[in-house]
Amino acid sequence: MIQELEKIKSDFLSEADGKSLDRVALDQLHAKYIGRNGAITQATARLKEIPKDQKPQYGKILNEVKTLVEERLAAIRNALTLHDSATPDIDLTLPERRRFYGHLHPITQTLEEIKSVFAGMGFTVEDGPEVELDYYNFEAVNIPKDHPARDMQDTFFVSDKVVLRTHTTPVQARTMQRKKPPIRMICPGRVYRKDTPDATHMPFFHQVEGLVVDEGVTFADFKATIAAFVHRMFGSDIGTRFRPSYFSFTEPSAEVDISCIFCHGKGCRTCKHSGWIEIMGSGMVNPILFDYAQYEKDRYSGYAFGMGIERIAMFMYNVNDLRLFSENDLRFLEQF
Ligand code: DAH
Repeated sequence: MIQELEKIKSDFLSEADGKSLDRVALDQLHAKYIGRNGAITQATARLKEIPKDQKPQYGKILNEVKTLVEERLAAIRNALTLHDSATPDIDLTLPERRRFYGHLHPITQTLEEIKSVFAGMGFTVEDGPEVELDYYNFEAVNIPKDHPARDMQDTFFVSDKVVLRTHTTPVQARTMQRKKPPIRMICPGRVYRKDTPDATHMPFFHQVEGLVVDEGVTFADFKATIAAFVHRMFGSDIGTRFRPSYFSFTEPSAEVDISCIFCHGKGCRTCKHSGWIEIMGSGMVNPILFDYAQYEKDRYSGYAFGMGIERIAMFMYNVNDLRLFSENDLRFLEQF
């Protein structure tokens, strides 16, 4: 009887020792030795058949073998569990998980393109505050106190003297106050107007302002610069035209149109069948601004322009609703 116990022990050791067992083999060993019909379970059941005088010794050895088997199996199970958590199951045949890469907002993309075209022509990039003094937003760009542009309808007033800038033109005044000519700069930035959002209006949008001041700057310089900009931005076959207009900070003033980039002048819905699209306001810097900047009026002349970035982006990407640019709808943004 005791020999039988020794045999169970040596059988177990030869099966369990020094072998790398997986979970299936482990479960089989468990069943074979300590399961319901396992060898040790059966040997325990036989205890009652053992002669009384041999019972203590049989019981002692049975316990030893049982403990040995249980401890070994537990140790193997532990080792397997450790191994599993260190090397989780990886299915190398699964398709790769899709990654979402961010990219620049279409307004930023358009602005970067505008900037790079003007940088190529020697323009620097200036900056100015969005919360602006009434003085720079209006006064120093020759919008007098009773001018309709100051109306509560259009302007967000922060206080009597402070506004959210309604255009980037105040950066002209700030730059001229800070620097002496020659000046050749653009200034991109966000502007604010008291408007209810719809397809063509937003209470905030972006503009790019341009200013060139030097000795002997003429309207011809301006026309050539803008034609070069339009060719680089929209294509060399796109024409430019200048229409008389009015801005307080320029004299004379002009509206710049380009031939329609969709129908090339034939007439379509985008250009309202005129063949032309308006892209910016512009003109020769009104000498009154030189007074504010304390420039010598007889010595210097300059041109200036301002355009809406959203408007340009709408033409470039054929977008028909201004609100899309600020709604952050991924279905829209992912198309760029
Ligand atoms: N500030 C004008 C606006 O907000 C745009 C503009 C027109 C800027 C003519 C200029 C300019 O510099 O010369 O509509």
